[in-house]
Amino acid sequence: MTSLDTIVALAKRRGFIYPGSELYGGITGFWDYGPLGTELKKNIKSEWWRSMVQLREDVVGLDAAIIMNPGVWEASGHTKAFADPLVECKVCHKRFRADKQEEIDSHGATHDKPEWTDPKQFNLLTEVYLGVTEPKQKVYLRGEITQGVFVNFRNVVDSTRIKIPFGIAQIGKAFRNEITPGNFTFRSREFEQMELEFFVKNDDQEGDKWYQYWKAERMKWYVSLGMDKGNLRFRDHRDDERAHYARHATDIEYNAPFGWSEFEGIHHRGDYDLGNHKLTYRDEAANEEYTPWVIETSGGVDRAALFFLLEAYKEEEKRVVLKLHPRLAPMKVAVFPLVANKDNITAKAQEVHAMLKAKFMTAWDARGNIGKRYLAQDEAGTPMCVTIDYTTLEDDTVTVRDRDTMKQDRVNISKLIEFIDGRLL
Ligand code: GAP
Repeated sequence: MTSLDTIVALAKRRGFIYPGSELYGGITGFWDYGPLGTELKKNIKSEWWRSMVQLREDVVGLDAAIIMNPGVWEASGHTKAFADPLVECKVCHKRFRADKQEEIDSHGATHDKPEWTDPKQFNLLTEVYLGVTEPKQKVYLRGEITQGVFVNFRNVVDSTRIKIPFGIAQIGKAFRNEITPGNFTFRSREFEQMELEFFVKNDDQEGDKWYQYWKAERMKWYVSLGMDKGNLRFRDHRDDERAHYARHATDIEYNAPFGWSEFEGIHHRGDYDLGNHKLTYRDEAANEEYTPWVIETSGGVDRAALFFLLEAYKEEEKRVVLKLHPRLAPMKVAVFPLVANKDNITAKAQEVHAMLKAKFMTAWDARGNIGKRYLAQDEAGTPMCVTIDYTTLEDDTVTVRDRDTMKQDRVNISKLIEFIDGRLL
């Protein structure tokens, strides 16, 4: 199994992910995405949006503000119940999550006789202060992106023709003052979520039907983008670990180097949220008004990016290759002039580069020899490399080298876009 350290090193070396504020000594729980990481995350989000919104007739999108009236967080129960149990070691005063036994155990090994305080509930909402006059207004950075959807439920119903059952999809940043951020980006204090809130009739059969439906859909999506089924599993929450809003909850977990780990939750939230916000739905056809139930799918973009990287990383005999699904690969194609010192080859390669970059994220490399350029693109996960050589000048064909098979095809430049498109499905 690929170690986490291997991925951390690759992420830094190739420009996927850097430690946040590194120049000033870093800041725990925050990460910056470099040129390739930005593309990877963007591709994960656009694949998600395509499958959850674009291809469906029963889901619409939303982009709500990060900061909301604090009354939202009172009504949603987050100011009281959005908390993890915290214990402190009385000897060294380090703080840990009481429900993460492995963290407690590994601290136990760092010094003699740790002594623990009783667990107390530690609220994860991040406070910020707004305004120009004192006292400033205390507000919160959103702890889940979800509440922005609920408070706009009526706006969406009134401004579209959508009817229950339907969903509202959203992608955006969330913030949690995590007690112990760690495992690289896995537990961060700032992260991105991609969520669907799906509204159904307040009926056991409907609730169960859609809960099962979305569980299956979400698992299928990860497999369709290249995750091995053997590295994925569902884990139902026990009664004592479910979030305050959930009637039923299951996690999609990945077989990570630090153990099976959640990266998406499917939650049956019942009427908890719309009930708290005193929102109802009027079904004109049936002439009835009721509080809809909510089935939620809540994925972490950063955790998905980390697990797609872990899944894609392969060490082969003579190379390291990231076998990312072509739709997730940051760069789709790289263009090389065979030699850098022949003006006619460079000019032709620049022409091909200009043509391809209008259509795909395209890299250019004229340094070193072709072998080294292939190795660099393999590590970046680029599915195809196009080389312009002496034959190109004669017959307008280029070689296209495939990342996974390392096989080369000779393709006419007039057919190149079509050829590449066909390999990005
Ligand atoms: N709206 C429901 C909700 O927020 P959650 O299980 O608390 O549910 C959903 O979070 C997903 O958000 C998780 O499965 C994970 O992928 C991501 N997530 C949560 N906390 C995170 C953290 N501290 N760092 C990175 N991702 C996190």
